[in-house]
Amino acid sequence: MSLYSRITGTGSCLPPRRLSNADLAAELAVSGVLTSDDWIVERTGIRARHFAAADVCSSDLGLEAARQALQAANLQAQDIDLIIVATSTPDMVFPSTACILQKKLGAHGGAAFDVQAVCSGFIYALTVADALIKTGTATKALVIGAEVFSRLLDFKDRTTCVLFGDGAGAVVLEASDTPGILASDLHADGKHVGILCVPGHVSGGKVLGEPLLKMDGKAVFKLAVGVLDEAARAVLAKAGKVATDIDWLVPHQANIRIMQSAAKKLKLSMDKVIVTVDQHGNTSAASIPLALDGAVRNGKIKPGELLMLEGVGGGFTWGAVLLNM
Ligand code: UT7
Repeated sequence: MSLYSRITGTGSCLPPRRLSNADLAAELAVSGVLTSDDWIVERTGIRARHFAAADVCSSDLGLEAARQALQAANLQAQDIDLIIVATSTPDMVFPSTACILQKKLGAHGGAAFDVQAVCSGFIYALTVADALIKTGTATKALVIGAEVFSRLLDFKDRTTCVLFGDGAGAVVLEASDTPGILASDLHADGKHVGILCVPGHVSGGKVLGEPLLKMDGKAVFKLAVGVLDEAARAVLAKAGKVATDIDWLVPHQANIRIMQSAAKKLKLSMDKVIVTVDQHGNTSAASIPLALDGAVRNGKIKPGELLMLEGVGGGFTWGAVLLNM
């Protein structure tokens, strides 16, 4: 049994339809909802987002990201014995998006399930995959964050609809004798359920409640900056490392100001932070693996470097993973 798990490949996918802030502002203006490129850039750092076509599901975006990650890891789909999809926008109520994706990949037989921890979903899923590999339950896992958040947006609410986008990111995590994932830290506090939620459900063949995203942005912002710092310090302590050891901070891509605050608290320069929120907005569980894959492919992140991944989102959930690439 291997002592460690290690990322051996990454991939990502953004749907082709890209809306700049100006494009979105023009669309919203038609129904009297006013926003501007200046406001969105200044408050969030977002410049564009991608929206999936109506017939494209989370599993389709996840499939493309997974294929890229498999190729990067030099593996075939049938080599994979565990698929975990982190998503809050599953294709169906059930079965899981992971099972649907497994079929689309042409694999079968390995374990497949979804993890629902909203924007912390990828951190949760990576930690679960690491644990299953360390116990010998799995040897080669696909861990995917995939979302079509555009389906949950209230385009009459300018305080939320400008923030989110669709996309997917994936990693292959393999059993390894050399250290990859060094430490994880996961948390939730259910008393904050109401500050970021989609309070609807299916019952008796009908959608009940409100199936669109509601957020108290200021409350989320305030909580996020505090808990991200706690999680980052916890994983550093568990791994016997200090902040100056970190080569790259790969945070959840929600708002540049939250990322700046996280970096400042760790006394890290923004040069050490992977920022892609400008290109795709908040893609929830997909945002960390999207940022990771972009930085691996453009050569910023190199083998052997120390990465801090950290996420925060609805639930309220948060967590961090420290790993060697
Ligand atoms: O994965 C976690 C997901 N969530 C987050 O990360 C969100 C965390 N929170 C945030 O990022 C910020 O709180 C927001 C970006 C959502 C809002 O930024 P803010 O600096 O807290 O703005 P605000 O809510 O205080 O709004 C300031 C003003 C308000 O106008 P008044 O009342 O001052 O006249 C808003 O009505 O900006 C107005 N406003 C907008 N104006 C133009 C709110 N949304 C918009 C908009 N365009 N899209």
